[in-house]
Amino acid sequence: MFHRGDRGRQDKAGRVNRVSVRKVAMFKDKSILLGVSGGIAAYKAAELVRLLVKAGATVRVVMTANAAQFVTPLTFQALSSNPVGLDLFSLESESQIGHIHQARLADLVILAPATANLVAKMAAGIADDYLTTILLATTAPVLVCPAMNVKMWEHPATQRNVETLAGLGYAICSPASGSLACREEGTGRLADLADITEAAARLITPPGLSGKRVLVSAGPTWEPLDPVRFLSNPSSGKMGYALARVAARRSARVHLVSGPCSLEAPPGVELTSVTTALEMQAAIRALAPQMDAIVMAAAVSDYRPSETAPQKRKKGDASEVLRLEANPDILAELGKSKPPAQVLAGFAAETENLVENAREKLVAKNLDFIVANDLMKNGSGFGTDTNEVKILERDGKITALPRLTKEEVAAEVWDRVQRLFSDGSR
Ligand code: C5P
Repeated sequence: MFHRGDRGRQDKAGRVNRVSVRKVAMFKDKSILLGVSGGIAAYKAAELVRLLVKAGATVRVVMTANAAQFVTPLTFQALSSNPVGLDLFSLESESQIGHIHQARLADLVILAPATANLVAKMAAGIADDYLTTILLATTAPVLVCPAMNVKMWEHPATQRNVETLAGLGYAICSPASGSLACREEGTGRLADLADITEAAARLITPPGLSGKRVLVSAGPTWEPLDPVRFLSNPSSGKMGYALARVAARRSARVHLVSGPCSLEAPPGVELTSVTTALEMQAAIRALAPQMDAIVMAAAVSDYRPSETAPQKRKKGDASEVLRLEANPDILAELGKSKPPAQVLAGFAAETENLVENAREKLVAKNLDFIVANDLMKNGSGFGTDTNEVKILERDGKITALPRLTKEEVAAEVWDRVQRLFSDGSR
C-alpha cells in the first residue's frame, strides 16, 4: 500500500532522520472492474465508484442489461471517467475483443450488487452477456457482494450457489440485515460500502502478517469516581483501530482490546471491550502469551480514584480532596515477561521533550520500538485523523515521519513489525 521515498541512513548516535513517505491512497494504481447487476441496490454502486476513485483506483464499470434499467450507464461513466461496458457485441468494445481485454486489465473485480441471478449464473459458469463473459475470463480476485430480497437470499438454491462460489475461490461480502427496499425485514441489503471497500483492500494487500497473531490496545480507560463520573482522557481510539484494520488487511489474526469509544471494530477483528485500566490489564494478560506482536496504543489512565463511591457524590460546600492510586503499567509488565520471539511496541504521547521521554520509555518498558507523538503539534494526537510521529528503535535509530493519516502511521508500524519478524532476530 505504500511506496517509500528515501528512508535516510541509520543514525546510531540517535539523531533524527527525516524521511519522506510518499503518501499513497488505498487503491492507488489499481484497476478495479465494478460489475453492476440489476437490483435496486444498483444506485449504491454509484457511491461505491466515487469512493474507489477517491481512494486512487481506476474504475471501469460493466453493467448487465437489467442494471441499466435501474441506473443509467451515463451516471457510472461520469463518476468513473471511463466508458461503461454493457453489451457483449458492441462494435467498439469487441473491436479489441473487449471482454478478454477488460478481464486482463483488472487487478480486482467487485460485483455490487450481485443479484441472485448473477450468483446463479456464476455458480453454473454461464457466460451469456458482457459481465458474465468477463467473469469467466478474468484471473483477478473477485469480490461478490450479493443484494436481494430476504426470501431470495434464504432460498436453498441461492445459499447453495453462494457456497459454490466460495468453494471456487470467490470472496463474498455477505449482505446486511435491516429493512429492505421490498418493505420486508431481514438479510439481503447490500453490505455497507465501508465493509465492501475494506474487503476489497484485503484482497489486494500483500498478506505480510499472514499466520501472525497480533494484539492491539486502543482508546482511553475510564476510572470511576462514582456510578456516573469518571477520570479519563480524550483518546478517540482512532490510532488503535487503524492499527487493527491495517493488520487485518495484511492477513494477521487480530485481537483488539479497546477502552470505551464510538468506533466499530473492523470486520473479522476479535474485540474485547473494557472500561478500566484494571480490566484492560486482565484482558491483555490473558491474551499476551499467545501473541506474535503487541502494539499498545491505548491511552491508559495512570491513576484511578482510591475509592469509587457507591452512589453519586453530592456537591459539597468545601473543596474535596480526591485520593488517587497508580494504575499498573500494562506495557511495562508485558516488557518484563516478553517471550524472546514476541515484538512489543508502544506509543508515547508527550507535551515536552518528546524524544528524551520516549527513549526513556522505550528502554524502561523493554520495547522493540516506540511511536512518539507530540500532543502540542497541530494535526497530531487525540481525536485527529492524522498524526505526526517519530519512531524510536532499540538500536538508536529515530525516524521522523511527516504528517500522515492514522492508517498510514499504522502501515509504518506494521512495516517495522514485519521487518523484525524477517530479520532473523526472532
Ligand atoms: O503513559 P505512558 O506515556 O508511559 O504510555 C506509554 C505507553 O505505555 C503507551 O503505549 C501506553 O499504552 C502504555 N501504558 C500502559 N499502562 C499504563 C500507562 C501506559 O500500558 N498504565
